[in-house]
Amino acid sequence: MPKRAELIREGDLGVLRIDNPPVNALSPETVVDIAAAFEAFEADQSLVGLVIECAGRTFVAGGDIASFDQPSFSTAPFNTLLARIEAAGRPVAAALFGTVLGGGVELALACHIRIALPGARFGMPEITLGLLPGSLGTQRLPRLIGVEAAAVMISGGKSIASDEAHALGLVDALADNPGAAAREAVRHAAESGAPLRRLSALSPPDAAAAEARLAQMKADAARRPHLPALAAIAASLDAAVHRPFAEGEAVEASAFRALLASPASRALRHVFFAERAARRIPGLPEGARPRGVLQVGVLGAGEMGTEMSIAFANANISVTMVDAADAALARARAAIDETLATEVSRGRLSEAEAALRSGLVRGTKHVSELADADIVFEAVSEDMPLKLDVACKLGVVCKAGAIIATSASTLDVNRIAAATGRPRDCLGVNASSPTHGLLEVVRGAETAADALQTVVHLASRIGKTAVVSGVCHGFIGARMAEVYARENDALQLDGATPEQIDGVAENPQWIGMKMGPSGMLTAARTALAIELAGRHGVARRASIPDREIFERLLYPMINEAAEILAEGIAWRPGDIDVVWTAGYGFPAWRGGPVFMADEIGLREVVARLDHYARLRNDWRVSPLMRRLAERGERLSDWRRDKI
Ligand code: COA
Repeated sequence: MPKRAELIREGDLGVLRIDNPPVNALSPETVVDIAAAFEAFEADQSLVGLVIECAGRTFVAGGDIASFDQPSFSTAPFNTLLARIEAAGRPVAAALFGTVLGGGVELALACHIRIALPGARFGMPEITLGLLPGSLGTQRLPRLIGVEAAAVMISGGKSIASDEAHALGLVDALADNPGAAAREAVRHAAESGAPLRRLSALSPPDAAAAEARLAQMKADAARRPHLPALAAIAASLDAAVHRPFAEGEAVEASAFRALLASPASRALRHVFFAERAARRIPGLPEGARPRGVLQVGVLGAGEMGTEMSIAFANANISVTMVDAADAALARARAAIDETLATEVSRGRLSEAEAALRSGLVRGTKHVSELADADIVFEAVSEDMPLKLDVACKLGVVCKAGAIIATSASTLDVNRIAAATGRPRDCLGVNASSPTHGLLEVVRGAETAADALQTVVHLASRIGKTAVVSGVCHGFIGARMAEVYARENDALQLDGATPEQIDGVAENPQWIGMKMGPSGMLTAARTALAIELAGRHGVARRASIPDREIFERLLYPMINEAAEILAEGIAWRPGDIDVVWTAGYGFPAWRGGPVFMADEIGLREVVARLDHYARLRNDWRVSPLMRRLAERGERLSDWRRDKI
């Protein structure tokens, strides 16, 4: 096995080079190799100092998330190594580029000097995994940049640009060649003999003013007990302010261990890997690359077509937008310019950049102008004869190898694909809402794997999470949402109010949806429900327990998910979780509906579904879920043999 880190001697300078593709994540094996290379540096007194740098596309992008599930996982070896790096008697500098995240920042904080490439980004994303930085990030970062700035980075999880990192003092200097600059800085420090800067010996510069921020963090954490990382971060930063470094280290270490085992973190780690797995297309030949996309066509200048055009322009992709109606084209143009103007007024975009993006979208009435497009998104209204007519035209106009993507919510993508005369190049796309982050990519019976790969890749270029679905009514998301909506209606007929139902759905004690079903799916009204109940002879109950509402909203949806898997509509259980967390406001800290079902236990879910089936005759437990429940297995672990 090649070493993931080695010590290179450049005359009297040591260079510790980490090489663990793709993102130099700190797997336990990598930490062992870094420690061995550092020991070699310690042993070689002929070296005046050390530069820590990385091969590949980025400096260390964090701990290896996959290794967090290993029972033997511990931060202790890495933390001990960091202490030794900081304590070194000779200068150590980090040469930073790419996405310096989590453990990467913590490694840099243990060094005496930090030099970064302009364009590098820095962040503490652990909170997005339900964790806190577990390698002294909560202790060294506030000592360097202050409690206020550290709190924002650690609790917010967002990364910052290199100039901000420089302004905060997180990096000492920016350089176009950070490796060369770090070498120079180490030499200079060695020659000058000036005391080395060890962050653990400092106090946070704003310690005196930190109380209000700490109190606010604790109050926020108390309001959101379902995210225990918030309280742990507040406690660790509190320790950084009020206690010696070693005690803060102990507070952070025990909090990290507890969080690692917390349901929220396990769920968030599941979503992290599920999102990445969703990009993998089964059946692709080895080394297959997505088809090149430089020019996009959008047919139909309605809401969906307009939103798609804005998204492409924002990603620097030029768009030809076609609509037969002048008025629709004018409306779309106005909407695009208004969106860009809002970005300018919020200071997120310069006037010049807005003008450039606006110029990337060109409107025309002629379908023939789509002949150069590498992919055409057809976004005309949901009407089969119209879709078939348009598909036929696109099949003729589009160049060979161009992809035709039909935006369908419920229509049969296979019929539309057949009408193009080139079904291998044709697929469906469906956004739960044009402005949301999800794009379901619908594979027809004949869709080529590389066409799917191209659209999944393109989706991520425009900031959307793509999940592939097979053809069925509603695909993955809307098909499950229909079951959810049906039960919402049934609960109202039975006597629950929309407020009670939404309250249960939105309460983190039950599910924690961003929005309850009435708000999300229907403008339900109690009066309507009462009238319908009377008409159908349904006896409305005086009160329905919250638990029943919870079970009836969630469990049938899970049941539908199992059916969707059994039918092969979704390739992987995690794909369903990604659809719901990215597109329907399902809380990521629950892991998605499938993961949540497993956490509850399939036996319990099936038993409750059986219970309701005895009361109503329209419930049928999925045979797949019943089988897994009987065997004590998890739905998340279920795999189709083919994948
Ligand atoms: N641990 C383990 N694997 C990781 C990883 C990590 N910290 N960060 C990225 N990877 C893997 C991904 O799973 C993916 O693997 P795959 O190709 O087999 O699916 C691969 O590295 C590339 O990551 P991806 O996210 O697809 O690339 P990107 O260029 O879009 O983004 C990062 C790169 C580093 C910005 C992004 O992966 C990221 O944010 N990673 C998490 C960083 C983090 O949270 N660190 C703190 C951990 S406590």
